[in-house]
Amino acid sequence: MLDELRTAEDAAKKAGNLIRSLLGKVRVTDKGVSYNLLTGADTAAERVVIETIRNRFPGDAVLGEESAATSSLSAPRLWIVDPLDGTTNFVHGIPHFAVSIAFVLEGTVRCGVVHDPMRKELFSAKAGGGARCNGSPIRVSPAADLTKSVIGTGFYYDRGALMLRTLDSIRKLLGAGIQGIRRTGAASLDCCYVASGRFDGYFEYGLSPWDFAAGMLVVTEAGGVCTDVDGKERGIFSSGVICSNGAIQGELCGMVAGRKE
Ligand code: IPD
Ligand code: CA
Ligand code: CA
Repeated sequence: MLDELRTAEDAAKKAGNLIRSLLGKVRVTDKGVSYNLLTGADTAAERVVIETIRNRFPGDAVLGEESAATSSLSAPRLWIVDPLDGTTNFVHGIPHFAVSIAFVLEGTVRCGVVHDPMRKELFSAKAGGGARCNGSPIRVSPAADLTKSVIGTGFYYDRGALMLRTLDSIRKLLGAGIQGIRRTGAASLDCCYVASGRFDGYFEYGLSPWDFAAGMLVVTEAGGVCTDVDGKERGIFSSGVICSNGAIQGELCGMVAGRKE
């Protein structure tokens, strides 16, 4: 899996440099609603990532958020790519976004990379090989319960039932005495912040595989737990994420888990 991991790292760095160079310089459109944005950086970064992958693994399938490369999740060798996770932040000049790339073999994520080009942090994980940030091992937090925890969340692009469910969960968590709630705007980094112990848990209803495929492996390889929104483990077939350091997973799921959408 070393070649795939190196390829993912190379692709993420190339795309990250490109995105950083385009900050404040690209045309912004939307995907049909005023709050789901698309920029030239999303599409250009995806091109760079796919080109890098195809150069080394021409026969592999790619599922990229923005491109016509729409392979199914059941392809035996599959790359899942979010070329710019955190587009709303990018558009507003908020320096918190990432490139997320996962390599999936027979339905299981084998390696994943999440690169934050502004902080120059590259999170990576290899199945069975641990999780790292810029090459140094990372570990989830030791928080033993929710009252010692900061929890991340996000809203997807929904202003209906999912939004109300998220707000309700935030209300419950704040009522349970958590130390803080964070909505930073890049799901892949939210997972990596759990993996590195900055957050103790993170939940979001209604994500796509490119938002969490890489981050999910980074969390589990850092000693954490990552499930679908109903608390069951479904890997890339999840419809959202509840993840944590493991110690608080039961309590967190008790507050926020529900039916799968
Ligand atoms: C979004 C971000 C955001 C999350 C949304 C995602 P995008 O991805 O990760 O934090 O709340 O659910 O769709 O559109 O910026 O790639
Ligand atoms: Ca995303
Ligand atoms: Ca994206």
